[in-house]
Amino acid sequence: MSFTADRLLLFGATGDLAQRMLLPSLCALDADGLLDSELSIICTARSEMTDSEFRNFARAALEKFLPADRRGGMAEFLNRLRYQPLDATTLEGFDELAEKVGQPEKGLAIFLSTAPSLFEPTIKGLQHSGLANGNVRIGLEKPLGTDLGSSCEINDAVASAFPEDRIFRIDHYLGKETVQNLLALRFANILFEPLWNANHIEHVQITVAETVGLESRVDFYDDAGALRDMVQNHMLQLLALVAMEPPTSFDAAAVRDEKVKVLRALRPIGEGESVTGQYRGGAVSGKIVPGYDEELGRDSDTETFVALKAHVDNWRWKGVPFYMRTGKRLSERVTEIVVRFRHIPHSIFDAKTVPNELVIGIQPEENISLTLMAKVPGLDRDGLSLRPVPLDIAMPDAFTGTHRRIAYERLLMDLIEGDQTLFVRRDEVEAQWSWIDGIRNQWSSEKLKPRTYSSGSWGPSAAIALAERDGVSWHE
Ligand code: BG6
Repeated sequence: MSFTADRLLLFGATGDLAQRMLLPSLCALDADGLLDSELSIICTARSEMTDSEFRNFARAALEKFLPADRRGGMAEFLNRLRYQPLDATTLEGFDELAEKVGQPEKGLAIFLSTAPSLFEPTIKGLQHSGLANGNVRIGLEKPLGTDLGSSCEINDAVASAFPEDRIFRIDHYLGKETVQNLLALRFANILFEPLWNANHIEHVQITVAETVGLESRVDFYDDAGALRDMVQNHMLQLLALVAMEPPTSFDAAAVRDEKVKVLRALRPIGEGESVTGQYRGGAVSGKIVPGYDEELGRDSDTETFVALKAHVDNWRWKGVPFYMRTGKRLSERVTEIVVRFRHIPHSIFDAKTVPNELVIGIQPEENISLTLMAKVPGLDRDGLSLRPVPLDIAMPDAFTGTHRRIAYERLLMDLIEGDQTLFVRRDEVEAQWSWIDGIRNQWSSEKLKPRTYSSGSWGPSAAIALAERDGVSWHE
């Protein structure tokens, strides 16, 4: 079924994601010679614009969001772009759009970067105009629903026009280099796999901390909250990659089969295993910032922070807690996974030993650090003096001459070329929602309200207590 598309049809082409990520990623791929010379990109959105007006719009976005040293082939890239205005809520206009797309020789890749309320009418329009027929695949940007029921509705609507092997559900975390590197670390080295289980690992921490607040997405975010915005997708994908069994190959079916088993093995969160928070005013990176309710202009019970203690109920992870936390307006921007190994079974030294710890830094720095116990140099009379020291790999130093890519570069390239490995399958999304719905039901039956925390902190103190009750400190 694999084919390279020679047409890319981008819905939502004037939106925020298109300006910040999609157009810059495509331009960067083009500059590196990674787009087929035949590929033409048809952009559509509601605004009335001509091809040349859209190219000016795209140029402005590239100048703002793509570093100058990656804009090499910008003029040629802009020439690939064509624009067709469209109101996706009615069928009118889809025939004209189909005319603009023309007859692809190799195939068509479609990317929906619109509000999910437009997915269903768009799919109908694609079917009506014949754009869904032939060698066509479709990429879908999150959010795919707000709970299991609404996610199934979207998935059913898409499935009425496209088979699953042509549906590419985006989770942009899977496009990040260090997230893919997690697979390399686990499955391209002999070192970790024998230790990667409950016998040797005490707990795992997954942190996705942000310094930004609501940004411009007031209504979307207030409806969603941190659990649905970040945990349902990105954090559960990270957890699945950490916890999955070795797949038999690096292909879409094998990798996704193993991830979904983990997602289905997630134990429903119990009482006292979750903490929610909402930021108040404070200082982040030396800047005074307002509280969530002030930014929103009204009171709200939406959580901007969540911490969870999760369990994967299978042999490998029996009794190993997975602590997860994410929040806005926290002290630092950091995404990392910490794997804390168990204590050595017996120490021959008088000095205290600290368990080994593997820290996989995803952003802002891409690095991997393993702490090992080492002897402090010197001639101690009272036996060896020991200290943990890090064995550090900074990815940019290890791979000089490469540049940091936008996660969407990988994902757009794979969509165009038809590789589903880094996209989320329907059963995964549904397993994710089913676990998240359980948490939300529990919150509503307990009438849980978010605790407040100061902007610039690490969230409510109850989140610290959640880990400390088990003798665990969050990694900082
Ligand atoms: C998005 C969320 O999916 O991910 C945002 O909707 C969040 O709220 C963003 O800020 C974080 O992505 P990244 O790549 O900056 O970690």
